[in-house]
Amino acid sequence: MKQMYIGKSGIQVSAVGIGAWAIGGDSSWGPSDDSESIRTIHRARELGINLLDTAPAYGLGHSEEIAGTALKGRRGDYILSTKCGLRWDIEEGSFHMERDGITLRRNTSAASLAVELERSLKRLGTDYIDIYIVHWQSLPDFPVPISETMGFLLKAKEEGKIRAIGASNVNADNFREYLRSGQLDLIQEKYSMLDQAKGDELFELCDRHGVTFQCYSPLERGALTGKYKTGDPVNMGRAKAGIKWYKPEFLPRITELSEKWAPLCKKYGCTMTNLVVAWTAAQGNGSNVNVMVGARTTAQIEENVKGGGITLESADIETMRKDARAVENAAK
Ligand SMILES: NC(=O)c1ccc[n+]([C@@H]2O[C@H](COP(=O)([O-])OP(=O)(O)OC[C@H]3O[C@@H](n4cnc5c(N)ncnc54)[C@H](OP(=O)(O)O)[C@@H]3O)[C@@H](O)[C@H]2O)c1
Repeated sequence: MKQMYIGKSGIQVSAVGIGAWAIGGDSSWGPSDDSESIRTIHRARELGINLLDTAPAYGLGHSEEIAGTALKGRRGDYILSTKCGLRWDIEEGSFHMERDGITLRRNTSAASLAVELERSLKRLGTDYIDIYIVHWQSLPDFPVPISETMGFLLKAKEEGKIRAIGASNVNADNFREYLRSGQLDLIQEKYSMLDQAKGDELFELCDRHGVTFQCYSPLERGALTGKYKTGDPVNMGRAKAGIKWYKPEFLPRITELSEKWAPLCKKYGCTMTNLVVAWTAAQGNGSNVNVMVGARTTAQIEENVKGGGITLESADIETMRKDARAVENAAK
């Protein structure tokens, strides 16, 4: 497994991390088996993954609690990231989404983050978070200056409660505003070979300012594994329902890609999932992209981890980029 540093924080992580959104279950992903989730987090570490990402919003605390249970007695073996800025227990904030009869609101104020941080520490059973990420940015109807959010995060860092600061779902303006207020070490963005827009906007800025670009949903929530064919049953929670590649008009494009890349899979002795993870890790400046891939079974993590050990030749990276762009553009 390749290793890398998170921004300028000095924190070293595996190039591939394990994301615990699906571990939260609920209508986003459908029910998860908690014992299997814990086994998966442990298996990830055995296989060389030391980075675990969760968030309070994943299963309304459930994902963090499972992460806390899994890390009991092993906290030092993992680099743990969680998030802040989404509340479901207060009225103050901008509407983010409605899920299972619960309204999630964006609130990145210092006062709200102070409450959230203590709750996350408790659920995770730890006294520090390695990377604390602002999940979603504030909206005009409940504006919070990024300087206020960063003020709180910098203080939490000074107190030793967090070690590095991240921001998620940002645009270039947000990115620059974070940098004006202090040290930003990571951004976490939706990015896959079939959805490259965020890279086009932010790779160059990350390179220039020494910030890690962490991709989320690199497998398009499973669609890009090439395992699903038209008509196959899919455990379709809300998260997958938001992915256009599962739609009958688009899924055949993925099947075509998997057929086209069969020789590449043979060449590298790997699966399409491995190829996609390896390709994603090779983006940006070649060493500043971290791949955060979700898994909730040991079988999934055992496959996904292999992508973090494959170095693709540059000609193959380019071929895959062109093939993927063609599919992405045709589906716009
Ligand atoms: N900051 C944000 O706003 C944000 C948003 C989304 C995600 N994230 C983070 O990024 C992580 C990854 O993103 P993601 O979970 O949305 O998408 P993803 O990594 O593209 O897909 C993960 C899902 O794909 C399926 N899968 C994984 N490995 C597989 C394999 N080898 N074979 C077949 N299916 C496989 C699993 O779904 P099933 O178990 O249902 O089969 C898994 O839960 C999340 O867990 C979370 O930590 C952050």
